[in-house]
Amino acid sequence: MADAVHAAWDRIRGLPTRTLAELFADPSRVEKLSDRLAWGEGKTAGGVLFDWSKTHLEDAMLDAFEALAEACDFTGKRAALLSGARINVTEGRAAEHTAQRGVGADTSVEEAMALHARMRMLVEAIHQGTLGEVRHLIHIGIGGSALGPKLAIDALTRDLKLVDCHVVSNIDGLALEQAFAACDPATTLVAVASKTFTTIETMTNAMSALKWLGDNGVADPYGRVVALTASPDKAVEWGVDETRVLPFPESVGGRYSLWSSIGFPVALAAGWDEFEAMLAGAQAMDEHFRATDGRANLALRAAFADQYYTRVRGCQTRACFTYDERLALLPDYLQQLEMESNGKRVTAEGEPVDGATAPITWGGVGTDGQHAVFQLLHQGTHLVPVDFIASIAPGDTLDPAHHAILLTNCFAQGAALMAGGNMAADGKDPARAFPGDRPSATMLCDDIDAATLGALIAFHEHRTFANAVLLGINPFDQFGVELGKKMAKDIEAGGADLALAAFSLFIERNADLA
Ligand code: F6P
Repeated sequence: MADAVHAAWDRIRGLPTRTLAELFADPSRVEKLSDRLAWGEGKTAGGVLFDWSKTHLEDAMLDAFEALAEACDFTGKRAALLSGARINVTEGRAAEHTAQRGVGADTSVEEAMALHARMRMLVEAIHQGTLGEVRHLIHIGIGGSALGPKLAIDALTRDLKLVDCHVVSNIDGLALEQAFAACDPATTLVAVASKTFTTIETMTNAMSALKWLGDNGVADPYGRVVALTASPDKAVEWGVDETRVLPFPESVGGRYSLWSSIGFPVALAAGWDEFEAMLAGAQAMDEHFRATDGRANLALRAAFADQYYTRVRGCQTRACFTYDERLALLPDYLQQLEMESNGKRVTAEGEPVDGATAPITWGGVGTDGQHAVFQLLHQGTHLVPVDFIASIAPGDTLDPAHHAILLTNCFAQGAALMAGGNMAADGKDPARAFPGDRPSATMLCDDIDAATLGALIAFHEHRTFANAVLLGINPFDQFGVELGKKMAKDIEAGGADLALAAFSLFIERNADLA
C-alpha cells in the first residue's frame, strides 16, 4: 500500500498548478463542484449547498486524489469506522459517534437508543417539575464536554429557551462566578459533564458549584446534580444519585460526544425534539458519507482540497468564517475537532508522518472578520484557504437590509479572494494590489436549525476522518494533552523547583534574550 500511496502523491505533486481564473474557463465548473445535501420528507425539510468551485480542485487532481483514497483504503477504513471496529488502534477502541444517531453496529445503535431514552425521560421529568422549579442549568465541562453543548445552545435557543443554560469550562473562578451571578440557586441544576469524571478543572468547578448551592440554602446540593459521563461508577462514587447519571459509551470520543448524554443541556434548553432533529441532520450526512464514493462524497472532496492546500501548497492554516451569529461558536468547536484529531506527527502504525498533518484551524464570524483579519487573507504572504458558511434564511426579524448586507459581503469576499486586482485609479499601485487566486469554499444553508447544525457538524467529523485516512493517522486519540497535565500535577505536588528548573534552563539556553 505504501508504494501506491507514494505513487499517488507523486502524481498529485506532478500536476500543473492552474489558477482559479484558468479553471473557471470551464463553464460547468460551478455545477461540477457544487452539491446540495437535503433531508426530510421528500428532501424538502432543509439542506446545505456545498460549493467547492472556488478551490483549485479540478478533474486531473480529483482523479489523482481518488487514486490516493484508494491506495489508503478509504472505503475499507470508512466501513471499519461505521461497523464499530476498533480503529482507534492506540487505545484499542472503536469510534462510535455515528451510532449515537443511528448509523453503526446494531448493538451500538441499540445501546445509544436506550441511553437516549433514559436521557429523554430525565429531560422531560425536569420540564414537568419532578425536580422542582428549574429555571437555570450550570453545565460544567471542558473541551468536548463543553464546546458542543455551548455551540448548540447558542445556535438553537435564541428564540426559545426552556431553561437558561450557562456553560462553564475554565478553572478561572471568574467563569463560574459569572454563572452564579446569573442564576438563582433555588432553581438551578448543575450538570457535571466529564467523560472520565477526573478532569481537574471540571471536578474543581463542580465542587465549588456544590458549595455555592449549599451556601445559598440548598439543603441537598448533590440532589441538584446531573452527571454526564462514560464513567458512571465514578459519578455515583462522587455523590450523584444513579437516577441522575446519564452514561455514554467509552467508544464515543470527547470531541465527538455532542450526540450522546453530553448533549443533555441542549435537550433541556431547546427541547427533546430539537435534540432529535439535530441527530437527524447528522444522520442524513452519515448516510451520504456511507453511501457515496470518490469526489461525489462531500467530506472526502473537502479532504482532497484540504490535503492539496496543506501538503502541496504549504498552507499552515485553514480559516472558517461563519456569516451568521447563530454559528459564531462553530470555529471554536472545529478547532478541537480538527486539531485534537489530526494534530499528530506519527501514523497509526507509529511511523513518523512524511509531511504536514492538520493545519491550524482558526476563524470567526462575518462580517466582523473583514474588519480585523481579512487584510492578511487578501494581501498577506500566507495562502489561507477559507470556508464561508452562511444561511439564506435570516436569524433576525429586523429590516431585511441586515441579512442582505451580510450575505452580499460573504459572497463578495470569496469573489475578491479569487479575482484579486488593483484598487488604484491607474491600476498600478503595489500597496493596492490584490494577488487573487486565493481559494475559498462556501456552505450555503437554507436556514440554521437543529438539523442543519447536525449535518454541518457531522460533515466536519467525516471531513476530519477522511483527512486522517489520507494522512494515515489515528484521529481518535489525544496523547498530546497528557504531558502538560502531568507536569501541572508534578508542580502542584511540590515540584515548584521543576517549573523553576525548566525556566532557568530556558534562560540559560537563551541568555541573549535576557
Ligand atoms: O485533555 C483533552 C480532553 O481529554 C479532551 O479530549 C476532552 O474533550 C476534554 O479533555 C475533557 O475530558 P473529560 O470529558 O474526560 O472531562
